[in-house]
Amino acid sequence: MRAYYYDNVPGDQRRSHDHLPSQPVSDETLTKLNIKYWTIPVEGHEEKINAIAAERGYKNRDNIHVSKEGMGDAYEDKLKIFFSEHMHEDEEIRYILEGQGFFDVRESPSDLWIRLAVEPGDLLVVPAGIYHRFTVDESNMIKAMRLFQDEPKWVPYNRSEETEHNPHRVGYLHDIGVAA
Ligand SMILES: [Fe+2]
Repeated sequence: MRAYYYDNVPGDQRRSHDHLPSQPVSDETLTKLNIKYWTIPVEGHEEKINAIAAERGYKNRDNIHVSKEGMGDAYEDKLKIFFSEHMHEDEEIRYILEGQGFFDVRESPSDLWIRLAVEPGDLLVVPAGIYHRFTVDESNMIKAMRLFQDEPKWVPYNRSEETEHNPHRVGYLHDIGVAA
């Protein structure tokens, strides 16, 4: 997984949006934001995924295929929804099986976008309460495993004044030591 500051240049969200030269984001910065990730080779991944799932209490999982063939006519609309800035009341856990994509996460307190370029073998945990968005890259295809604890709580809360007061948003900012 590669992490770098998003360039904020208008244009297709599927392009890399890397600064020239790139402005990499360190592991320390990601750790401060409570973002966790592991690299687990896809071949033979089951055992390691099972171990992390057991340790972190992820009892359930399913697979999602984001592509024109996987989603049909809903694809372009879905991409727009995935790319609206939002947060959840639960962790968003994804293990990439095929294809590539970008998770953009908001750094606090700078409010800059950090782009996480994910590829097969990346297991990413986006914490509850962090603003984020997702897109495929220009290859237009990603297959990922979604892991979750009980019932999936993937309700997106779009960024707003109201969401700022969501206890999970407040709790997240508190956890990373940023005053709301
Ligand atoms: Fe999300």
